[in-house]
Amino acid sequence: MRGDIELKGLSVSFGKEKVLKKLDLTVKEGTIMAILGPSGCGKSTMLRVISGLVPQNNGVVLLGGKSIDRLPPHRRKMGFVFQNYSLFPNLTVSRNIGFGMRMMKMKRRDIVKRVDELVSLVGLSGMEKKRPHELSGGQKQRVAIARALATYPDVLLLDEPFGALDAKIRKRIRRDLRSIQRELGTTTIFVTHDQEEAFEVGDQISVMNNGVIEQNGSAMDLYERPGTEFVSRFVGNANMIELPGEEGRTVMIRPEDISLRKWEDDDWTGGTKGKLADLIHLGPLIESSVLLDNGDTLTALMSRSDFHLKGLKRNDEVRVKILKFRSFKEENI
Ligand SMILES: Nc1ncnc2c1ncn2[C@@H]1O[C@H](COP(=O)(O)OP(=O)(O)O)[C@@H](O)[C@H]1O
Ligand SMILES: [Mg+2]
Repeated sequence: MRGDIELKGLSVSFGKEKVLKKLDLTVKEGTIMAILGPSGCGKSTMLRVISGLVPQNNGVVLLGGKSIDRLPPHRRKMGFVFQNYSLFPNLTVSRNIGFGMRMMKMKRRDIVKRVDELVSLVGLSGMEKKRPHELSGGQKQRVAIARALATYPDVLLLDEPFGALDAKIRKRIRRDLRSIQRELGTTTIFVTHDQEEAFEVGDQISVMNNGVIEQNGSAMDLYERPGTEFVSRFVGNANMIELPGEEGRTVMIRPEDISLRKWEDDDWTGGTKGKLADLIHLGPLIESSVLLDNGDTLTALMSRSDFHLKGLKRNDEVRVKILKFRSFKEENI
């Protein structure tokens, strides 16, 4: 069975703790939905409900418009990849990947063929005979992905699968996951607490907080048009301050929407006075902390070349201009 996945009004409680609160989510067939949220917001619980491992107290899970709530996990045709690999330590790469197919009593010839395809799809050719302890973390996760895909699932669920890998390997494997998913077209839900990862992997991103989806959209939507203060803080960095000269009005300003110059630069007027309290070299970008005269601190981001051009140094007095801001609350006129 294929089609969109829809969660409607999903609620789950553990004892008195409400973990999912009438959660709604739609994942279009063939796409990757990234679920982005802080630890403890209910991401894993949501995946467990979808896969049938945890029953919901209320609400429905639909696949292709039909409820799958009565199906036990092994009949839902879903592949699951966890953070902690969960490979069989005594089985080779090939036998780990073929495990589900052997359980389904597929023909030996078909299993061998499918394992071959998957080994090459996830980039593990030549490793077929190795056992998990002989593999790096990234290679283990490639095996786990291949194993989850082996039985042609309708849906692939990944729960913070790359959390234990180091930064460079994570980047590679994310890209590879994207291209594997594009090739197979398997509807995928990818859970992470890492914004960069969510942006890189997801066709759409749903920001989850406290048992509900706060906002859903493309990376561009979420970054440029965050609907709530939580989303604006969680997706990228955000300054929250009262606009100088407009007390009582709190606004969100992205660090890259703040422009700085030396205070004494005479071809620039207006703006607010501040002091360059700290500089952090991030590589291509430079992050500065600016202490405003009213006591607020702003974080600003500029390119390395821009920074050199303006000749800025720590402790300089600077002129601060805000190029763009966003406010959330309705204003009283
Ligand atoms: N089986 C369980 N029994 C009791 N509490 C649970 C269980 N599973 C999760 N929780 C609680 O539900 C909340 C959400 O957990 P989880 O879904 O794992 O969040 P996330 O994956 O976003 O970190 C946490 O407070 C966690 O302690
Ligand atoms: Mg989790």
